[in-house]
Amino acid sequence: MRDAAPDTIYLKDYRPFGYDVKEVALTFTLHPNRTRVNSRIVFEPKPGGDPVFFLHGENLELVSASVDGAPVTPDVTPEGLTCTVPDQTFVWEAEVIIDPANNTALEGLYMSNGMYCTQCEAEGFRKITYYPDRPDVMSTFTVKIHGPHSVLLSNGNPTDQSEGFAEWHDPWPKPAYLFALVAGELVNHAGSFTTASGKEVELNLWVRPGDEGKCAFGMQALKDSMKWDEDVYGREYDLDVFNIVAVDDFNMGAMENKGLNIFNSSAVLASPETSTDGNFERIEAIIAHEYFHNWTGNRITCRDWFQLCLKEGLTVYRDSQFTSDMRSAPVKRISDVIDLRGRQFAEDQGPLAHPVRPESFQEINNFYTATVYEKGAEVIGMLRALVGAEAYDKALQLYFDRHDGEACTIEDWLKVFEDTTGRDLSQFARWYSQAGTPEVSIEEAWDAGTYTLTFTQSLKPSATTPDPKPQVIPIATGLLAQDGQEVVPTTVLELTETTQSFSFEGLAEQPFPSVLRGFSAPVVLKSDMPATRRAFLLAHDTDPFNRWEAGRGIARESLLNTIRTGTAPDPDYLNGIRTVLADETLDPAYRALMLGLPAQNELATTLFNEGTTPDPAAIWSATDNLRAAMAMHMADLLPVLMDTHQVTEPYAPDAEQSGKRALANGMLSLLSRLDDGARAAQQFEAADNMTQQLAALGALLRTGNGDDALGTFEAQWKDDRLVMDKWFGLQVIQSDPDRTAETAAKLTEHADFNWKNPNRFRAVFGSLAIHHAGFHAADGAGYRLLTDWLIRLDPVNPQTTARMCSAFQTWRRYDTDRQAIVAAELDRILSQDGLSRDTCEMITRIRGTE
Ligand code: PHE
Ligand code: ZN
Repeated sequence: MRDAAPDTIYLKDYRPFGYDVKEVALTFTLHPNRTRVNSRIVFEPKPGGDPVFFLHGENLELVSASVDGAPVTPDVTPEGLTCTVPDQTFVWEAEVIIDPANNTALEGLYMSNGMYCTQCEAEGFRKITYYPDRPDVMSTFTVKIHGPHSVLLSNGNPTDQSEGFAEWHDPWPKPAYLFALVAGELVNHAGSFTTASGKEVELNLWVRPGDEGKCAFGMQALKDSMKWDEDVYGREYDLDVFNIVAVDDFNMGAMENKGLNIFNSSAVLASPETSTDGNFERIEAIIAHEYFHNWTGNRITCRDWFQLCLKEGLTVYRDSQFTSDMRSAPVKRISDVIDLRGRQFAEDQGPLAHPVRPESFQEINNFYTATVYEKGAEVIGMLRALVGAEAYDKALQLYFDRHDGEACTIEDWLKVFEDTTGRDLSQFARWYSQAGTPEVSIEEAWDAGTYTLTFTQSLKPSATTPDPKPQVIPIATGLLAQDGQEVVPTTVLELTETTQSFSFEGLAEQPFPSVLRGFSAPVVLKSDMPATRRAFLLAHDTDPFNRWEAGRGIARESLLNTIRTGTAPDPDYLNGIRTVLADETLDPAYRALMLGLPAQNELATTLFNEGTTPDPAAIWSATDNLRAAMAMHMADLLPVLMDTHQVTEPYAPDAEQSGKRALANGMLSLLSRLDDGARAAQQFEAADNMTQQLAALGALLRTGNGDDALGTFEAQWKDDRLVMDKWFGLQVIQSDPDRTAETAAKLTEHADFNWKNPNRFRAVFGSLAIHHAGFHAADGAGYRLLTDWLIRLDPVNPQTTARMCSAFQTWRRYDTDRQAIVAAELDRILSQDGLSRDTCEMITRIRGTE
C-alpha cells in the first residue's frame, strides 16, 4: 500500500509560473553513481506573477545552492524546494549529485549498457536538477559535459569539444522535457540533408558497435521525413545537426528531444535478416513522427500536460499522412483503424476511458494513451474532412506563424481554424472533452427518386462524461447503383444533431449506401441493413476502406453467430473473400488485410455490449473454426497465390514487396492447417529475410511442429537482442490458450529473460496480455502470472509496470468466477508496500467501485 493516496492534478487549476527563465547553463561531470550537475539559471520575476519560487526536484542530493552568488538554504521536500529570492532578475546556481547507474526507472539520467542517456518527458528533468519542470517554461540551454567517452551529445549545435569534454548550445527556447544528454562509446552512421533554403544539415545515427549494419534504413527514413515536411507542411529543419541515438533500455518507442532524438533500438535499428516488413514500416513511421515533432511539439509546445494531444494527436496525424504518401493510403488507413479499434475503443469503453484532453490525472505518464494519440489524430482527420484540405493547410500555416515559440492549448489550436474558416468550432470541441465512442445508427427511406438517410448518434454516459452532448460527426457517404456503379460520389455529411436526415434527389433507382467511407469518424456504426448489402459492398464498393469493412462486417457476424448458436461459417463470407483474394487487380497488401479476422477482444466487447457474457474459449474456437473453413474453401488457391507472390528481386522493405510477402505469408498460415506445416518448414529452411523466417516459424508453432525450428532460430539469433525479443514473444502468441500462461512462465526462467529490460518484459507479458483466450483462461493462471510480475517490476520501473496494467481493463466483462480472481489479484497489487504512484493510479481506476 502507498503511504498516502496520490494527489490529483486538475486542468482547471492551471496557473502560470511566476518567473521567466532567461537562460540555462548546465555542467555535467559524469560518474555512474555520483554524477555532478551544476546549474546556472537566470530567472526574471513576471510582473504581477505568483511570487512563490518553487523548483521541482526528485531523488537529488543537494550539495549547494546560491542566489546571485550568495549561498542560500532552501526548504527541501521530496518533490522540490522553495527559496526566498529577489524581486528582480537573479542568478540561481545549484550543485546536485545523482546516481544514474541505479536509475532503473529509465526516467531522468540513466545508464544502459554502459552508456548514459536521458528521458525527460514528461517530468523526468526534475530528477536531473532543480528546475521549474513544466512545459510552459521555455528557455535556451547551454550544456557542458565532462566524461571519459568518445561521444558526448546534447541538444542544439556543438560549440566546443576536446578530449573528455563537449559543449552544446541550443538557440531555440524549449521546455525542460525536451532536454537530452547522451555519453558513450558509440559509432556513427552519418548522412546529410540540404534544406529547401539551401542549408546543409549534418545527420548522425549513433549506435552501439556491432549495430552499424542496421542504420541505413533509418537514415533514409529521416531524409524522407525532412523532405516531406518541407513539401507538405512547408517546415524546414532549424539546426546545423540532427542526432539520433539508439538505446536498448527505453520505456517507450522514441523521444523527440530537440536536435537529439533518443530511440528505443527496436524503433530504429533494421536489417532484412533481422527485421520484418512490419518492423521496417513501423521504424519509418516513428522516425517521421519524432522528426515531425520538431515543429509540432518543440517549436510549438504544450502549455501543460493536459494539452498533450496538441502535439501527439497532430504528430500522429502527420506521420500517418506521411506513411500514406510513402506507401499505400488505403492499406495505411485500414491498419490504423484495426489498431484504433483494438486499443482505443477498448480503452474508451472501460474504466480507463478519458477524454482526448483529460481534465485530471495523478501521474501524467499514465496518459500517453491510445485515446490521446490515436483518437487525438482521428479528431484532426475529422477537422480536415470538415473544413477541407485547402483550409486545413491555411490553418496550419497560421498556427505555425502565430504560435512559433509558444506553449499552447487546444483552444489556441481550434482558434486558428475558426479564424481561417469563420466556422464556430465550439460543438466540434466536444471531441476533446467527452470520453467514449459515439454510436451512430442508420435508417434509410426511398420515395419516388429521393433517397433519405437518417442518422442517430448516442454516447454512453461515463465517469468523466456524465452528461454527453451530441458531437459533430463527419460521415463520408457515397451511393452505388444496383449494378455497382457509383451514382453519388463521396460527400461528407455533417451530423450535428442527435437525429438528422440527409436526402439525395433525382435518383433513377433505390441506391445502396456506402457510409462512413475511409472511417471518417471514430464511431461505432449500427445498421439493420440486410446481410446481402454487405456482400454487395464487399464485391463492389468503390471505396477501398469500406470494401474491406464490408468483409470485416460479414466475418464478425459469422463469428458471432457461431459463438451464439454454433452455426457454421457463413458461405457468403467464404465465397466473397475468395473472390477478392483471387482478384489480381487488387494490391496484394490490401488482399492480405482482407484475410484478417476481427480481434477476439473486439468480439468480446461486441458480445458484452449486447448483454452476453463473453466466453474467451468459445471466441477462440469460433475464430479457429472460421480460419479452418477459410483454409478448406481456398485449398486450391493457397499454394497458387503463394507461388505467384514470391519476390524474386533482392529484398527491399518497400510497399510493393512487403505486400507480396504479406499475402504469401497469409496463404502460408492457412495452408499449414492443411499440410501440417510442410510448406512452412520449407520456407523456414530457405528464408533469407526475417519476414519469411518469422512467418514460417509462427505457422510451425501453430501446427505444434515448431520445436526444432524454435531451437534452430534460437541458435542462429541468440546474440541479437531484438530478434530474441521476437523469439520470446512468438512462443506466447502462438501458444494454445490452455498453455499460454505456462509458456510465458517457462520463458521467464530462460537465461536471457532480462526482465528489467522493457523490450524483453513486454515481449513475454505484452504477448500474454494480447492473447485473449490465453490471458483470460478460466483457471486464472494468466491473471496470476501477470500480477506476480507486475508486483516484481513496479519498484524497479513504475512506468512500464503501469502501462502493462491495462491488460486488466476489460475484466468486468467476464463471468463472476473470472471477476473474483481478477479482483483478488488487483487487490494484491494495491496492498503492496510502497506501490508507485503510476501503478496505484492505474489499478485503482481499473478496480473501480463495486
Ligand atoms: N513523446 C514521445 C512520442 O510520442 C513519447 C514518449 C513519452 C517517450 C514519454 C518517452 C516518454 O514521440
Ligand atoms: Zn509523439
